[in-house]
Amino acid sequence: MRAADIADQLSTVLVTEEEIQKKLLELAQRVDAEYEGKDLLLVGVLKGAVMVMADFARHLQRDITMDWMAVSSYGAGTKSSGVVQIRKDLDTDLHGKHVLIVEDIIDSGLTLSWLLENFQSRGAESIEVLALLRKPDAAKVVIDCRYVGFDIPNEFVVGYGLDYAERFRNLRDVAVLAPHVYS
Ligand code: XMP
Ligand code: MG
Repeated sequence: MRAADIADQLSTVLVTEEEIQKKLLELAQRVDAEYEGKDLLLVGVLKGAVMVMADFARHLQRDITMDWMAVSSYGAGTKSSGVVQIRKDLDTDLHGKHVLIVEDIIDSGLTLSWLLENFQSRGAESIEVLALLRKPDAAKVVIDCRYVGFDIPNEFVVGYGLDYAERFRNLRDVAVLAPHVYS
């Protein structure tokens, strides 16, 4: 698809590339300070968190280990049901680890709520969450997210890892999908 056609499918840019990088640097500086002297495992949730992980991890001034998990929330419709299926599990034993889950977005919070419980049962020493985006008005469960990038309105967004039908993940900004695309 050409750039003009892509632009036609988006309504507004919510967060620009520059704003994302500035925020990820700030969050990385906090994480550097708050995990000083501790081994840190970053767990990225595929596929949406790929861009956040790549940029956030490189803003850190320390060594970390990295693992990935792929989950899908199944049930009727396109909204998260809270019933989560593991599509790709971690390669790492979480026992005694300081884990920071790296997510693209907290929408209903149901996926993360399930993940947090799952990780706790694996004996992690500590578990915190970093999410680039959060939709406060969509929350069905409250997630204790220590590192939040941006609170955004309850609209479907794409770009910077987030997709609509697997498209738009490589946009550099986060934008609201134009309603005519999905209606
Ligand atoms: P929940 O509702 O469980 O959402 O917090 C979890 C996952 O759903 C995806 N999601 C979105 N993807 N634009 C997207 O491209 C959105 O606005 C959006 N809201 C939720 C995302 O993978 C998230 O981790
Ligand atoms: Mg996700």
